[in-house]
Amino acid sequence: MAFNSKSALFALLSAALAAAYTGTAVPDALGTTPCPVQCTPVTDYHVALPVTLFPNGENCCTEVNVQYNGVSIAVTFTDLYLAGANSENISLSHQAFAELAAPELGSITPVTWDFA
Ligand SMILES: *[C@@H]1O[C@H](CO)[C@@H](O)[C@H](O)[C@H]1NC(C)=O
Repeated sequence: MAFNSKSALFALLSAALAAAYTGTAVPDALGTTPCPVQCTPVTDYHVALPVTLFPNGENCCTEVNVQYNGVSIAVTFTDLYLAGANSENISLSHQAFAELAAPELGSITPVTWDFA
């Protein structure tokens, strides 16, 4: 019984880990465009995700967990990152980036991100 539930938990964790993305995060990058839908409520904590992963704005307005250096933040997926095409790089809002690192750094890596 205990073994089975542990296996189930492990399978779940593996699935969750496999679904996570890893890339570089930059604050307020150029080359983003808003999601096809307007996300409400408007928040200062948002992220632009690579357009090639969500070409039709799939998952727009959902919450994304972003982790860097042991710190995790939740941000809203509001924009598509055109300049991040074919990568797993992300562009965080200035406020969100500041939660993870000093804005002067300009970019941080590796950043892992996944849907909450
Ligand atoms: C993704 O970030 C890396 C730096 O870690 C950079 O070398 C690469 O050019 C970036 N890719 C895109 C498409 O922006």
